[in-house]
Amino acid sequence: MKYIFLPAVSLVLLIFGLAEAQRLTRRRTTTTSTTAAPVSTIAEREANLLHREESFNAREAKFREREVNLTLREDSLRLREQMISVREDNIKIRELKGDDAPPATTPAPDYSLVRKDVRTEKFVDIGTTDSCSENMRFFAIPGSKTDGMCDCDYHQCNRPLLYSKAYDQCFWAWSQGPCESGEWYTYNDTLHPVCVKNKCPESGALRSSKYYFQDPDDGECYETTTKGYCQNVGETLMATSDDPFPKCRSHTLCFPLSNPPQQECIAGNRRHLDGFCE
Ligand SMILES: *[C@@H]1O[C@H](CO)[C@@H](O)[C@H](O)[C@H]1NC(C)=O
Ligand SMILES: *[C@@H]1O[C@H](CO)[C@@H](O)[C@H](O)[C@H]1NC(C)=O
Repeated sequence: MKYIFLPAVSLVLLIFGLAEAQRLTRRRTTTTSTTAAPVSTIAEREANLLHREESFNAREAKFREREVNLTLREDSLRLREQMISVREDNIKIRELKGDDAPPATTPAPDYSLVRKDVRTEKFVDIGTTDSCSENMRFFAIPGSKTDGMCDCDYHQCNRPLLYSKAYDQCFWAWSQGPCESGEWYTYNDTLHPVCVKNKCPESGALRSSKYYFQDPDDGECYETTTKGYCQNVGETLMATSDDPFPKCRSHTLCFPLSNPPQQECIAGNRRHLDGFCE
């Protein structure tokens, strides 16, 4: 019995020793490669949970923001839809009326640049000539904030222009204009346009600053741009827009184009004939 016990004990010891040695080698290999085993302590798991909760909250916030954005976009779409339907209505109204006036929803026009023509009710650029008859220009009406009308173009001031109601246009003074052959269009004593017999020589081109006129003081015929009755050196007979008859001048005093493009009271023009200049 004694002889069996000893080897058995040593065998047990041997097995124990082998197991221990194996455990040591295993531990050595695990310490060299730490990544293999996910070690999760309670603190780590708690941190992990917190992180997931945070990212969930962020995603929820982003989702809510997108929802708000969508509502906003929906609102703006609805607004645009409303505006389009208003514009459609305006177009329909304008088509029915045949009206050129801008619809009520568009901003008011800049009346320093554009005026409503009292005749046609259409909006016209101040200072333009396209919508007017011959020798006329579109002006703002003094005293009115919105209206304008065509009148004789005083910016062409080498030769006065006289309005004719019958033709609704302006003719050059001392030309035949609306008159019979052998007559010319000139001023009467109250500076209204009249047709009278032309006693002076034939003038040249209509747009030229050189033409014959009859002087109201001595009744003689004179040609502009010549010395005529002028005494002073350098002076010739020239017209200006604020004086119906050419006088002795060294230079013309035309209204510069930069002047406020307003209708002016000028003898023989439309405003004068309409009786606004008394
Ligand atoms: C919501 O709209 C704002 C402003 O337009 C934008 O900066 C933001 O990125 C949008 N958010 C989402 C989640 O689409
Ligand atoms: C001048 O002409 C206007 C318009 O034709 C007329 O009313 C006025 O009586 C005339 N004046 C004179 C003095 O002939």
